[in-house]
Amino acid sequence: MMTPLKKLVPRSLKESIKALERERKMRRAVGQINRLQEGETPSTELLAMFKAGWGDDGFHAVGGYLEEVVQRAATSEGPILEIGSGLTTLLLGLLAGRRGVQVWTLEHLPEFHHSIQTKLKRYHVSNVHPILAPLADYGAFAWYAPPELESMPPNFTLVIADGPPANTKGGRYGLLPVMRSHLAPGAVVLLDDAERVSEQTALNQWQAQYNFSYDLRRRGEKAWAVCTLF
Ligand SMILES: C[S@@+](CC[C@H](N)C(=O)[O-])C[C@H]1O[C@@H](n2cnc3c(N)ncnc32)[C@H](O)[C@@H]1O
Repeated sequence: MMTPLKKLVPRSLKESIKALERERKMRRAVGQINRLQEGETPSTELLAMFKAGWGDDGFHAVGGYLEEVVQRAATSEGPILEIGSGLTTLLLGLLAGRRGVQVWTLEHLPEFHHSIQTKLKRYHVSNVHPILAPLADYGAFAWYAPPELESMPPNFTLVIADGPPANTKGGRYGLLPVMRSHLAPGAVVLLDDAERVSEQTALNQWQAQYNFSYDLRRRGEKAWAVCTLF
């Protein structure tokens, strides 16, 4: 009986072929996003090609949250703060960059910080500032300790809050205590994973402590919060 050709191809070669295929899709998607009109959002098909090019890392934003991030990134007027780097970093950079809008991204893990720097260079995205910010203990909670906090914009108008990981002390609560003074009045915070108890606790704490309102959105089992700070 003949051995199927697929079985004769070494695993490493198969992986290399898959990586090349992803890279080809990513380059096509980046090219198409770069050709969108100002303020135009990528179609579902284009977003799917971009995601296929990125690969399934099991960590990136999905569904309604990703669509909301993309739509807001395409129209945001002021600087954008992203918490936790990944696929959205590249998308934010591409969609905001054409209007000269700057994106600052906090990442606590050196390998992901390095990886996003490499990708931003590869696709010539120059308006994103990836900041390696280790998680620090603030007492009641842990959150990022941005080393360049004083040089970051004082007027972020959009925050993409998809970090730190759920097992961090206080979850994502630290965003407002640490960054509030850098958020413009009327700033919008898009908080992912709002179906989880730790995010709901953070929302309740923020509401009790800040001039703040939020709207919970759901798609299937996933939820996210659209928060406005006054
Ligand atoms: C939930 S991810 C989301 C990042 C980004 N907003 C996105 O949609 O791609 C947030 C954090 O998970 C971590 N992370 C990202 N990719 C990862 C991976 N493949 N394995 C382990 N951790 C990862 C990084 O530290 C990142 O800051």
